[in-house]
Amino acid sequence: MSEIKFFCGENIPLEMHKVRIVQKLNLVSVERRLEAINEAGNNTFLLKNRDIFMDMLTDSGVNAMSDKQLAAMMEADDSYAGSETFSKLESKSQEIFGKQFFLPAHQGRACENILSQLFVKPGYVVPMNYHFTTTKSHIVLNGGIVEEILIDEGLKVSSCHPFKGNIDIEKLKAVIKKYGPEKVAFFRFEAGTNLIGGQPFSLENMAEVRKICEEYGILVVLDASLLADNLYFIKTREEKCKNMSIREITRAMSDLSDIIYFSARKLGCARGGGICTDSKELYLKIRELVPLYEGFLTYGGMSVREMEAIAVGLEETMDEDMINQGPQFIAYMTDELQKKGVPVITPAGGLGCHLDAMRFADHIPQSQYPAGALATAVFIAGGVRGMERGTLSEQRDENGNETFSNMELLRLAMPRRVFTLSQVKYAVDRIVWLYENRKLIEGLKFVEEPKILRFFFGRLATVSDWQTKLAARFREDFGDSL
Ligand code: F0G
Repeated sequence: MSEIKFFCGENIPLEMHKVRIVQKLNLVSVERRLEAINEAGNNTFLLKNRDIFMDMLTDSGVNAMSDKQLAAMMEADDSYAGSETFSKLESKSQEIFGKQFFLPAHQGRACENILSQLFVKPGYVVPMNYHFTTTKSHIVLNGGIVEEILIDEGLKVSSCHPFKGNIDIEKLKAVIKKYGPEKVAFFRFEAGTNLIGGQPFSLENMAEVRKICEEYGILVVLDASLLADNLYFIKTREEKCKNMSIREITRAMSDLSDIIYFSARKLGCARGGGICTDSKELYLKIRELVPLYEGFLTYGGMSVREMEAIAVGLEETMDEDMINQGPQFIAYMTDELQKKGVPVITPAGGLGCHLDAMRFADHIPQSQYPAGALATAVFIAGGVRGMERGTLSEQRDENGNETFSNMELLRLAMPRRVFTLSQVKYAVDRIVWLYENRKLIEGLKFVEEPKILRFFFGRLATVSDWQTKLAARFREDFGDSL
């Protein structure tokens, strides 16, 4: 991986691309930001782009695309069945993952719907390093149970462990014993474990898990949505893989999986999804549901233009200079915040920089959603939109009680190749200011609370007029500045 040293000693990530298309941004006044977050029911999902300066909500479907991807989109071959574009994507997937079959789906959760419907039955369990919101919802909808069996270190906010997404092998054995192998629908590995701060697992851990699953005849499913980051971390943090190419690591991970699925809104920097397998038997099973939920087998709900972009995007993911940009920018942001004492998840992972709301706003009880409150405060402070990844993102239990999440995080996603370093510095500056004024932040309460995936549409109110005070403090400290 190219490492570029600076003569003056500064340690900053260097972009290995140039920007040739730009989109104008607006930075509205703090008074408007306050109004906007209230109009949005204090839910950053409900904000309008016109009020947002840095959109760090997600890296899903918003990564910058390359000139080669855009060019490929121009020559897409459209047809309901048998399009040349599909064949291109299929062969790129075969080449990269070494799996014979590729089934298209419109996005990641569509793959989860299909796999859960096929394999999860009432009372069945899906052990995994950690759940993702949509994954868990699909498993639970089908009557299944999610067992999170990652290493204890994975839930420690501050850590030096390079692979916090690793599985605890003893916990895996215990789950298999508890339910019996016949009740294990499949084992799921999530690359770049999203909800614990984009933390990777190691190739070594994956091989150990595979061995046990094989012993008991349990399918290994890899959620490769955040594979790019995980590949980068294996290459840079796992001693034994230092001399392997990204392509070789990808193939090794694929060889340890029976099924790979991914959101192409993340992997490949386009929009869509897919399921890969080398087993004809599994392929035939999955094939039954694709036309039912997604579309014919040669598009699966995707536009041909996006399929062209995915094919190129998958190839570009094999380029170290491409996949290192996200993690390096995230590490920069994390380090800068840490230097100023702001509590962040360490080590820096993929996907984005994660603020630890439990420490940032330690005076807010979990029942008042500290991470959700922090998301609104960061927006007021800088027009920066993040995503709550804490109790708000959980579902109540069957008795209507809150399920307090293990971590209260504000995720500031880093869409790849989208922001410049000065924009990242601006976000750091506003967050440091907010940290100095953190005592002004107070909690939120639900006004409208949907039953499923409530964080998408739920509306909340503040427990006091704290946001008005925060905006007034901003004016005092920043004068006329936006
Ligand atoms: N798996 C993981 C690990 C994900 O991060 C996501 C999406 C999905 C599956 C579902 O894929 O959105 O294409 O249906 N994560 C997005 C995010 C939503 O913002 O983190 P999808």
